[in-house]
Amino acid sequence: MANVAVVGSQWGDEGKGKLVDWLSERADVVVRFQGGHNAGHTLVIDGNVYKLSLLPSGVVRGGKMSIIGNGVVIDPWALKKEISTLRAQGVVIDKESLKIAENATIILPLHGELDALREDATAAVKIGTTRRGIGPAYEDKIARRAIRVSDLGNEALLKDKIATLLMHHNALRKGLGADPIDGDKLLTELLEIAPEVLEFSDIVWRRLDEARKARKLVLFEGAQGAMLDNDHGTYPFVTSSNTLAGQAAVGSGVGPGAVNYVLGITKAYTTRVGEGPFPTELLDEVGQGLGERGREFGVVTGRKRRCGWFDAVMVRQAVKTGGISGIALTKLDVLDGMDELKVCVGYRLGDQTLDYYPSNMIDQAKVEPIYETLEGWKDSTFGARSWDDLPATAVKYIRRVEELIEAPIALVSTSPEREDTILVRDPFSD
Ligand code: GDP
Ligand code: IMO
Ligand code: MG
Repeated sequence: MANVAVVGSQWGDEGKGKLVDWLSERADVVVRFQGGHNAGHTLVIDGNVYKLSLLPSGVVRGGKMSIIGNGVVIDPWALKKEISTLRAQGVVIDKESLKIAENATIILPLHGELDALREDATAAVKIGTTRRGIGPAYEDKIARRAIRVSDLGNEALLKDKIATLLMHHNALRKGLGADPIDGDKLLTELLEIAPEVLEFSDIVWRRLDEARKARKLVLFEGAQGAMLDNDHGTYPFVTSSNTLAGQAAVGSGVGPGAVNYVLGITKAYTTRVGEGPFPTELLDEVGQGLGERGREFGVVTGRKRRCGWFDAVMVRQAVKTGGISGIALTKLDVLDGMDELKVCVGYRLGDQTLDYYPSNMIDQAKVEPIYETLEGWKDSTFGARSWDDLPATAVKYIRRVEELIEAPIALVSTSPEREDTILVRDPFSD
Protein backbone atom coordinates (compact mmCIF):
# COMPACT_ATOMS: atom_id res chain seq x y z
CA MET A 1 0.00 0.00 0.00
CA ALA A 2 1.26 3.44 -0.95
CA ASN A 3 1.34 6.77 0.90
CA VAL A 4 -0.48 9.32 -1.24
CA ALA A 5 0.08 13.08 -1.51
CA VAL A 6 -2.98 15.02 -2.67
CA VAL A 7 -2.17 18.31 -4.38
CA GLY A 8 -3.93 20.85 -6.56
CA SER A 9 -2.79 20.98 -10.19
CA GLN A 10 -4.31 24.33 -11.16
CA TRP A 11 -4.98 27.52 -9.13
CA GLY A 12 -6.56 25.87 -6.09
CA ASP A 13 -10.18 24.95 -5.30
CA GLU A 14 -9.98 21.83 -7.46
CA GLY A 15 -11.84 19.77 -4.86
CA LYS A 16 -8.86 18.57 -2.80
CA GLY A 17 -10.90 18.55 0.43
CA LYS A 18 -13.56 16.26 -1.01
CA LEU A 19 -10.97 13.82 -2.34
CA VAL A 20 -8.86 13.84 0.83
CA ASP A 21 -11.99 13.07 2.84
CA TRP A 22 -12.91 10.26 0.42
CA LEU A 23 -9.42 8.74 0.42
CA SER A 24 -9.00 9.12 4.18
CA GLU A 25 -11.38 6.22 4.75
CA ARG A 26 -8.40 3.97 4.12
CA ALA A 27 -5.67 6.20 5.61
CA ASP A 28 -4.48 6.16 9.22
CA VAL A 29 -2.89 9.61 9.28
CA VAL A 30 -3.70 12.81 7.34
CA VAL A 31 -1.03 15.56 7.30
CA ARG A 32 -1.23 19.16 6.10
CA PHE A 33 2.26 20.29 5.04
CA GLN A 34 2.01 23.90 3.81
CA GLY A 35 -0.25 26.93 3.59
CA GLY A 36 -2.57 28.07 6.32
CA HIS A 37 -6.11 29.36 6.64
CA ASN A 38 -5.89 30.88 3.16
CA ALA A 39 -7.12 27.42 2.13
CA GLY A 40 -10.83 26.66 2.09
CA HIS A 41 -12.12 23.13 1.61
CA THR A 42 -15.79 22.18 1.44
CA LEU A 43 -16.87 18.65 2.31
CA VAL A 44 -20.42 17.40 1.78
CA ILE A 45 -21.26 14.20 3.63
CA ASP A 46 -24.85 12.93 3.44
CA GLY A 47 -26.00 16.47 2.82
CA ASN A 48 -24.07 17.93 5.78
CA VAL A 49 -21.60 20.64 4.81
CA TYR A 50 -18.24 21.01 6.58
CA LYS A 51 -15.88 23.88 5.85
CA LEU A 52 -12.22 23.47 6.68
CA SER A 53 -9.32 25.89 6.36
CA LEU A 54 -6.51 24.87 8.64
CA LEU A 55 -7.47 21.43 9.86
CA PRO A 56 -6.67 18.42 7.68
CA SER A 57 -9.72 17.24 5.73
CA GLY A 58 -9.44 13.78 7.31
CA VAL A 59 -10.56 15.21 10.66
CA VAL A 60 -14.25 14.79 9.86
CA ARG A 61 -13.94 10.99 9.90
CA GLY A 62 -13.40 9.73 13.41
CA GLY A 63 -10.49 7.48 14.32
CA LYS A 64 -7.83 9.10 12.14
CA MET A 65 -4.82 11.04 13.30
CA SER A 66 -4.83 14.56 11.86
CA ILE A 67 -1.52 16.39 11.74
CA ILE A 68 -0.68 20.03 11.07
CA GLY A 69 2.93 19.83 9.93
CA ASN A 70 5.81 22.26 10.44
CA GLY A 71 5.38 23.67 6.93
CA VAL A 72 1.98 25.16 7.82
CA VAL A 73 1.53 28.70 9.17
CA ILE A 74 -0.96 28.74 12.04
CA ASP A 75 -3.18 31.58 13.20
CA PRO A 76 -4.08 30.48 16.76
CA TRP A 77 -7.30 32.50 16.81
CA ALA A 78 -8.44 31.02 13.49
CA LEU A 79 -7.55 27.55 14.77
CA LYS A 80 -9.63 28.03 17.90
CA LYS A 81 -12.59 29.22 15.88
CA GLU A 82 -12.42 26.39 13.36
CA ILE A 83 -12.17 23.76 16.09
CA SER A 84 -15.19 25.16 17.90
CA THR A 85 -17.28 25.34 14.71
CA LEU A 86 -16.47 21.74 13.82
CA ARG A 87 -17.08 20.52 17.35
CA ALA A 88 -20.51 22.17 17.19
CA GLN A 89 -21.12 20.02 14.10
CA GLY A 90 -20.28 16.89 16.08
CA VAL A 91 -16.69 16.39 14.90
CA VAL A 92 -14.42 15.00 17.62
CA ILE A 93 -11.20 16.99 17.98
CA ASP A 94 -8.95 16.19 20.92
CA LYS A 95 -5.26 15.81 21.58
CA GLU A 96 -5.36 12.19 20.49
CA SER A 97 -6.81 12.97 17.08
CA LEU A 98 -5.04 16.28 16.35
CA LYS A 99 -1.29 16.91 16.50
CA ILE A 100 0.37 20.22 15.71
CA ALA A 101 4.09 20.40 14.95
CA GLU A 102 5.92 22.27 17.68
CA ASN A 103 8.18 23.79 15.04
CA ALA A 104 5.33 25.25 12.95
CA THR A 105 5.19 29.02 12.42
CA ILE A 106 2.60 31.24 14.12
CA ILE A 107 0.61 33.89 12.20
CA LEU A 108 0.15 37.02 14.32
CA PRO A 109 -2.49 39.74 13.91
CA LEU A 110 0.25 42.05 12.62
CA HIS A 111 0.79 39.71 9.67
CA GLY A 112 -2.80 40.06 8.54
CA GLU A 113 -2.59 43.82 8.94
CA LEU A 114 0.60 43.98 6.89
CA ASP A 115 -0.96 41.78 4.20
CA ALA A 116 -3.88 44.22 3.93
CA LEU A 117 -1.71 47.36 4.11
CA ARG A 118 0.33 46.12 1.17
CA GLU A 119 -2.69 45.07 -0.85
CA ASP A 120 -4.23 48.50 -0.36
CA ALA A 121 -1.03 50.44 -1.18
CA THR A 122 -1.56 51.88 -4.64
CA ALA A 123 2.13 51.69 -5.61
CA ALA A 124 2.36 47.91 -5.06
CA VAL A 125 1.38 45.07 -7.40
CA LYS A 126 -1.99 43.89 -6.19
CA ILE A 127 -1.94 40.11 -5.72
CA GLY A 128 -5.48 39.70 -4.48
CA THR A 129 -4.34 37.72 -1.41
CA THR A 130 -6.75 36.30 1.13
CA ARG A 131 -5.40 38.96 3.57
CA ARG A 132 -4.82 36.27 6.16
CA GLY A 133 -1.19 37.21 6.78
CA ILE A 134 0.15 34.13 5.01
CA GLY A 135 2.89 35.93 3.02
CA PRO A 136 4.15 38.10 5.92
CA ALA A 137 4.26 35.07 8.26
CA TYR A 138 6.34 33.03 5.78
CA GLU A 139 8.62 36.05 5.29
CA ASP A 140 9.31 36.10 9.03
CA LYS A 141 9.93 32.36 8.99
CA ILE A 142 12.52 32.59 6.22
CA ALA A 143 14.08 35.67 7.86
CA ARG A 144 14.50 33.64 11.10
CA ARG A 145 12.47 35.91 13.34
CA ALA A 146 9.17 33.98 13.44
CA ILE A 147 7.44 32.82 16.59
CA ARG A 148 6.89 29.09 16.53
CA VAL A 149 4.43 26.84 18.36
CA SER A 150 6.85 25.72 21.07
CA ASP A 151 7.82 29.35 21.84
CA LEU A 152 4.28 29.86 23.13
CA GLY A 153 5.13 27.77 26.19
CA ASN A 154 8.05 29.93 27.33
CA GLU A 155 7.17 33.46 28.44
CA ALA A 156 10.75 34.76 28.71
CA LEU A 157 11.68 33.46 25.27
CA LEU A 158 8.47 34.79 23.80
CA LYS A 159 9.16 38.25 25.21
CA ASP A 160 12.64 38.29 23.63
CA LYS A 161 11.35 37.03 20.31
CA ILE A 162 8.58 39.64 20.23
CA ALA A 163 11.20 42.39 20.80
CA THR A 164 13.28 41.12 17.85
CA LEU A 165 10.21 40.79 15.67
CA LEU A 166 8.92 44.27 16.46
CA MET A 167 12.29 45.88 15.73
CA HIS A 168 11.62 44.83 12.15
CA HIS A 169 7.85 45.24 11.99
CA ASN A 170 7.55 48.60 13.71
CA ALA A 171 10.13 50.11 11.32
CA LEU A 172 8.17 48.69 8.41
CA ARG A 173 4.84 49.90 9.80
CA LYS A 174 6.24 53.40 10.26
CA GLY A 175 7.12 53.46 6.56
CA LEU A 176 3.59 52.35 5.68
CA GLY A 177 2.01 54.96 7.98
CA ALA A 178 0.65 52.43 10.51
CA ASP A 179 0.84 52.71 14.29
CA PRO A 180 3.55 50.75 16.07
CA ILE A 181 2.67 47.47 17.80
CA ASP A 182 2.84 47.39 21.60
CA GLY A 183 5.05 44.41 22.54
CA ASP A 184 3.54 43.94 26.02
CA LYS A 185 0.04 43.82 24.59
CA LEU A 186 1.06 41.26 21.96
CA LEU A 187 2.73 39.16 24.66
CA THR A 188 -0.46 39.18 26.76
CA GLU A 189 -2.59 38.22 23.76
CA LEU A 190 -0.27 35.37 22.85
CA LEU A 191 -0.07 34.01 26.39
CA GLU A 192 -3.85 34.04 26.53
CA ILE A 193 -4.33 32.06 23.29
CA ALA A 194 -1.27 29.80 23.79
CA PRO A 195 -3.07 26.91 25.59
CA GLU A 196 -5.42 26.49 22.60
CA VAL A 197 -2.44 25.56 20.45
CA LEU A 198 -0.14 23.96 23.03
CA GLU A 199 -2.81 21.39 23.88
CA PHE A 200 -2.16 19.76 20.49
CA SER A 201 1.58 20.46 20.22
CA ASP A 202 3.66 17.37 19.45
CA ILE A 203 6.88 16.04 17.91
CA VAL A 204 5.33 15.41 14.54
CA TRP A 205 8.37 13.96 12.75
CA ARG A 206 8.51 11.28 15.44
CA ARG A 207 4.80 10.49 15.11
CA LEU A 208 5.33 10.04 11.39
CA ASP A 209 8.35 7.82 11.96
CA GLU A 210 6.25 5.67 14.31
CA ALA A 211 3.55 5.50 11.65
CA ARG A 212 6.12 4.39 9.09
CA LYS A 213 7.45 1.66 11.36
CA ALA A 214 3.92 0.43 12.06
CA ARG A 215 3.23 0.43 8.29
CA LYS A 216 0.41 2.92 8.75
CA LEU A 217 -0.99 4.64 5.67
CA VAL A 218 -0.28 8.36 5.48
CA LEU A 219 -2.15 10.86 3.33
CA PHE A 220 -0.34 14.16 2.72
CA GLU A 221 -2.83 16.98 2.07
CA GLY A 222 -1.72 19.93 0.00
CA ALA A 223 -3.46 23.31 -0.10
CA GLN A 224 -3.66 25.75 -3.06
CA GLY A 225 -2.38 24.42 -6.39
CA ALA A 226 0.63 24.10 -8.69
CA MET A 227 0.07 27.45 -10.41
CA LEU A 228 0.08 29.16 -6.99
CA ASP A 229 3.43 27.55 -6.11
CA ASN A 230 6.01 30.14 -5.12
CA ASP A 231 8.60 28.78 -7.60
CA HIS A 232 6.61 27.13 -10.37
CA GLY A 233 3.42 29.19 -10.39
CA THR A 234 2.41 32.50 -11.96
CA TYR A 235 4.90 34.52 -9.88
CA PRO A 236 4.34 37.07 -8.34
CA PHE A 237 0.63 36.14 -8.42
CA VAL A 238 1.20 33.11 -6.21
CA THR A 239 1.03 32.15 -2.57
CA SER A 240 4.07 32.26 -0.30
CA SER A 241 4.72 28.55 0.04
CA ASN A 242 5.64 25.63 -2.19
CA THR A 243 2.44 23.82 -2.99
CA LEU A 244 3.91 20.94 -5.01
CA ALA A 245 4.19 17.44 -3.58
CA GLY A 246 7.94 17.91 -3.11
CA GLN A 247 7.02 20.07 -0.14
CA ALA A 248 5.13 17.22 1.57
CA ALA A 249 8.36 15.73 2.93
CA VAL A 250 10.00 18.92 4.24
CA GLY A 251 6.72 20.36 5.49
CA SER A 252 5.97 17.37 7.69
CA GLY A 253 9.38 15.95 8.59
CA VAL A 254 9.74 12.77 6.53
CA GLY A 255 12.11 11.77 3.72
CA PRO A 256 11.19 12.28 0.05
CA GLY A 257 10.68 8.52 -0.31
CA ALA A 258 7.69 8.66 2.06
CA VAL A 259 5.45 9.84 -0.77
CA ASN A 260 4.74 6.95 -3.09
CA TYR A 261 1.99 8.38 -5.25
CA VAL A 262 1.10 11.98 -6.10
CA LEU A 263 -2.58 12.54 -6.86
CA GLY A 264 -3.16 15.81 -8.71
CA ILE A 265 -6.66 17.12 -8.16
CA THR A 266 -7.78 18.65 -11.43
CA LYS A 267 -10.98 20.50 -12.26
CA ALA A 268 -12.54 19.59 -15.62
CA TYR A 269 -12.31 23.33 -16.46
CA THR A 270 -10.24 26.10 -14.86
CA THR A 271 -10.86 28.63 -12.08
CA ARG A 272 -8.76 31.24 -10.36
CA VAL A 273 -9.41 33.61 -7.41
CA GLY A 274 -7.46 36.83 -7.11
CA GLU A 275 -5.29 38.69 -9.59
CA GLY A 276 -2.87 37.33 -12.17
CA PRO A 277 -2.73 35.87 -15.67
CA PHE A 278 -5.31 33.32 -16.82
CA PRO A 279 -4.95 32.52 -20.54
CA THR A 280 -8.17 30.49 -20.93
CA GLU A 281 -10.36 32.83 -18.88
CA LEU A 282 -13.89 33.29 -20.26
CA LEU A 283 -15.33 36.72 -19.66
CA ASP A 284 -18.53 35.88 -21.54
CA GLU A 285 -21.75 34.02 -20.71
CA VAL A 286 -19.97 30.65 -21.11
CA GLY A 287 -17.65 31.55 -18.22
CA GLN A 288 -20.58 32.88 -16.25
CA GLY A 289 -22.43 29.61 -16.81
CA LEU A 290 -19.50 27.58 -15.50
CA GLY A 291 -19.36 29.83 -12.41
CA GLU A 292 -23.07 29.44 -11.76
CA ARG A 293 -23.30 25.68 -12.32
CA GLY A 294 -20.03 25.11 -10.46
CA ARG A 295 -20.99 27.51 -7.63
CA GLU A 296 -17.62 29.13 -7.97
CA PHE A 297 -17.42 31.38 -4.94
CA GLY A 298 -14.43 31.32 -2.59
CA VAL A 299 -14.91 29.62 0.80
CA VAL A 300 -12.44 31.92 2.56
CA THR A 301 -13.19 35.36 1.16
CA GLY A 302 -16.51 34.84 -0.64
CA ARG A 303 -14.97 36.25 -3.81
CA LYS A 304 -16.27 35.15 -7.19
CA ARG A 305 -13.88 32.73 -8.88
CA ARG A 306 -12.83 33.54 -12.44
CA CYS A 307 -13.72 30.68 -14.83
CA GLY A 308 -12.32 29.38 -18.11
CA TRP A 309 -11.67 26.38 -20.34
CA PHE A 310 -9.45 23.48 -19.35
CA ASP A 311 -5.80 24.32 -19.91
CA ALA A 312 -4.00 21.08 -20.75
CA VAL A 313 -0.63 22.80 -21.24
CA MET A 314 -0.68 24.19 -17.72
CA VAL A 315 -1.83 20.94 -16.12
CA ARG A 316 0.82 18.99 -18.09
CA GLN A 317 3.42 21.37 -16.66
CA ALA A 318 2.04 20.74 -13.15
CA VAL A 319 2.31 16.99 -13.81
CA LYS A 320 6.00 17.43 -14.66
CA THR A 321 7.06 19.96 -12.01
CA GLY A 322 5.10 18.27 -9.26
CA GLY A 323 5.70 14.62 -10.18
CA ILE A 324 1.99 13.88 -10.43
CA SER A 325 1.39 10.13 -10.79
CA GLY A 326 -2.29 10.34 -11.67
CA ILE A 327 -5.18 12.77 -11.44
CA ALA A 328 -8.64 13.00 -9.96
CA LEU A 329 -10.81 14.86 -12.47
CA THR A 330 -13.41 16.84 -10.53
CA LYS A 331 -16.59 18.76 -11.33
CA LEU A 332 -17.14 16.91 -14.59
CA ASP A 333 -20.89 17.41 -14.02
CA VAL A 334 -20.47 21.18 -14.40
CA LEU A 335 -19.76 20.60 -18.11
CA ASP A 336 -23.08 18.74 -18.60
CA GLY A 337 -25.31 20.17 -21.33
CA MET A 338 -22.67 22.16 -23.18
CA ASP A 339 -22.65 21.84 -26.98
CA GLU A 340 -18.92 21.97 -27.34
CA LEU A 341 -15.91 22.14 -25.06
CA LYS A 342 -12.58 23.77 -25.69
CA VAL A 343 -9.25 22.61 -24.36
CA CYS A 344 -6.05 24.64 -24.53
CA VAL A 345 -3.34 22.60 -26.28
CA GLY A 346 -0.68 25.29 -26.83
CA TYR A 347 -0.03 29.03 -26.67
CA ARG A 348 0.72 31.69 -29.21
CA LEU A 349 3.28 34.30 -28.17
CA GLY A 350 3.85 36.80 -30.97
CA ASP A 351 4.84 34.61 -33.93
CA GLN A 352 5.95 31.75 -31.70
CA THR A 353 4.02 28.64 -30.70
CA LEU A 354 4.70 27.35 -27.18
CA ASP A 355 4.02 23.91 -25.70
CA TYR A 356 4.75 25.19 -22.17
CA TYR A 357 3.78 28.12 -19.97
CA PRO A 358 6.57 30.71 -19.89
CA SER A 359 8.00 31.87 -16.54
CA ASN A 360 8.20 35.60 -17.21
CA MET A 361 5.19 37.61 -15.97
CA ILE A 362 5.00 39.71 -19.14
CA ASP A 363 4.90 36.62 -21.39
CA GLN A 364 2.47 34.89 -19.02
CA ALA A 365 0.06 37.76 -19.46
CA LYS A 366 0.58 37.92 -23.24
CA VAL A 367 0.17 34.30 -24.36
CA GLU A 368 -2.96 33.41 -26.26
CA PRO A 369 -4.46 29.94 -26.02
CA ILE A 370 -4.60 27.60 -28.99
CA TYR A 371 -7.77 25.54 -28.65
CA GLU A 372 -8.91 22.13 -29.69
CA THR A 373 -12.70 21.77 -29.79
CA LEU A 374 -14.36 18.66 -28.42
CA GLU A 375 -17.96 17.54 -28.55
CA GLY A 376 -20.04 18.13 -25.41
CA TRP A 377 -22.69 15.83 -23.94
CA LYS A 378 -26.38 16.31 -23.22
CA ASP A 379 -26.87 13.56 -20.62
CA SER A 380 -26.26 14.24 -16.96
CA THR A 381 -23.13 13.00 -15.23
CA PHE A 382 -24.22 14.57 -11.93
CA GLY A 383 -23.87 12.05 -9.15
CA ALA A 384 -22.55 9.28 -11.41
CA ARG A 385 -20.82 6.61 -9.38
CA SER A 386 -19.56 4.26 -12.05
CA TRP A 387 -17.58 4.64 -15.24
CA ASP A 388 -20.35 2.90 -17.17
CA ASP A 389 -22.79 5.66 -16.17
CA LEU A 390 -20.77 8.27 -18.07
CA PRO A 391 -21.91 9.30 -21.57
CA ALA A 392 -19.56 8.19 -24.36
CA THR A 393 -18.65 11.81 -25.22
CA ALA A 394 -17.72 12.50 -21.58
CA VAL A 395 -15.45 9.46 -21.65
CA LYS A 396 -13.92 10.80 -24.85
CA TYR A 397 -13.26 14.15 -23.14
CA ILE A 398 -11.60 12.41 -20.18
CA ARG A 399 -9.45 10.24 -22.46
CA ARG A 400 -8.30 13.27 -24.46
CA VAL A 401 -7.43 15.15 -21.26
CA GLU A 402 -5.44 12.13 -20.08
CA GLU A 403 -3.50 12.04 -23.34
CA LEU A 404 -2.75 15.77 -23.37
CA ILE A 405 -1.58 16.06 -19.76
CA GLU A 406 0.45 12.84 -19.92
CA ALA A 407 -0.98 11.42 -16.69
CA PRO A 408 -3.64 8.75 -16.12
CA ILE A 409 -7.03 9.36 -14.57
CA ALA A 410 -7.31 7.73 -11.14
CA LEU A 411 -10.66 9.15 -10.01
CA VAL A 412 -13.59 11.14 -11.34
CA SER A 413 -15.78 13.32 -9.14
CA THR A 414 -19.34 14.08 -10.22
CA SER A 415 -20.88 16.11 -7.36
CA PRO A 416 -19.89 17.69 -4.04
CA GLU A 417 -21.13 14.59 -2.14
CA ARG A 418 -18.49 12.29 -0.71
CA GLU A 419 -19.77 9.13 -2.39
CA ASP A 420 -20.33 10.61 -5.85
CA THR A 421 -16.84 9.55 -6.81
CA ILE A 422 -15.67 7.04 -9.43
CA LEU A 423 -12.54 5.05 -8.73
CA VAL A 424 -10.73 4.28 -11.98
CA ARG A 425 -7.27 3.24 -10.72
CA ASP A 426 -6.53 2.97 -7.00
CA PRO A 427 -3.80 5.45 -5.91
CA PHE A 428 -3.10 3.37 -2.80
CA SER A 429 -2.14 0.33 -4.81
CA ASP A 430 -0.96 1.80 -8.12
P1 GDP B 1 -10.37 22.65 -2.46
O1 GDP B 1 -9.90 23.97 -1.98
O2 GDP B 1 -9.49 22.08 -3.52
O3 GDP B 1 -10.62 21.67 -1.36
O4 GDP B 1 -11.76 22.90 -3.17
P2 GDP B 1 -12.96 23.81 -2.61
O5 GDP B 1 -13.68 23.03 -1.57
O6 GDP B 1 -12.49 25.17 -2.26
O7 GDP B 1 -13.83 23.99 -3.92
C1 GDP B 1 -14.41 22.93 -4.58
C2 GDP B 1 -15.94 23.13 -4.56
O8 GDP B 1 -16.54 22.27 -5.48
C3 GDP B 1 -16.57 22.79 -3.21
O9 GDP B 1 -17.68 23.62 -3.01
C4 GDP B 1 -16.99 21.34 -3.38
O10 GDP B 1 -18.10 20.99 -2.57
C5 GDP B 1 -17.37 21.31 -4.83
N1 GDP B 1 -17.10 20.05 -5.52
C6 GDP B 1 -16.08 19.17 -5.34
N2 GDP B 1 -16.16 18.18 -6.26
C7 GDP B 1 -17.23 18.44 -7.03
C8 GDP B 1 -17.80 17.80 -8.17
O11 GDP B 1 -17.32 16.78 -8.67
N3 GDP B 1 -18.91 18.38 -8.71
C9 GDP B 1 -19.46 19.51 -8.22
N4 GDP B 1 -20.53 20.02 -8.81
N5 GDP B 1 -18.94 20.15 -7.14
C10 GDP B 1 -17.82 19.62 -6.57
P1 IMO C 1 -7.35 26.07 -1.52
O1 IMO C 1 -6.52 25.21 -0.61
C1 IMO C 1 -7.52 29.34 -4.39
C2 IMO C 1 -4.72 32.65 -3.81
C3 IMO C 1 -5.29 33.99 -3.41
C4 IMO C 1 -4.28 34.90 -4.09
C5 IMO C 1 -2.96 34.17 -3.91
C6 IMO C 1 -2.13 34.62 -2.73
O2 IMO C 1 -8.73 26.31 -1.05
O3 IMO C 1 -7.27 25.56 -2.92
P2 IMO C 1 -2.36 34.31 -0.10
O4 IMO C 1 -3.44 34.71 0.83
O5 IMO C 1 -2.08 32.84 -0.11
O6 IMO C 1 -1.11 35.10 0.06
O7 IMO C 1 -2.93 34.69 -1.56
O8 IMO C 1 -3.32 32.80 -3.73
N1 IMO C 1 -5.09 31.53 -2.93
C7 IMO C 1 -5.97 30.57 -3.26
N2 IMO C 1 -6.76 30.43 -4.35
N3 IMO C 1 -7.52 28.39 -3.44
C8 IMO C 1 -6.74 28.50 -2.35
O9 IMO C 1 -6.63 27.50 -1.44
C9 IMO C 1 -5.94 29.64 -2.20
N4 IMO C 1 -5.07 30.08 -1.26
C10 IMO C 1 -4.56 31.21 -1.72
O10 IMO C 1 -6.58 34.17 -3.91
O11 IMO C 1 -4.53 34.97 -5.47
MG1 MG D 1 -10.59 25.93 -1.71
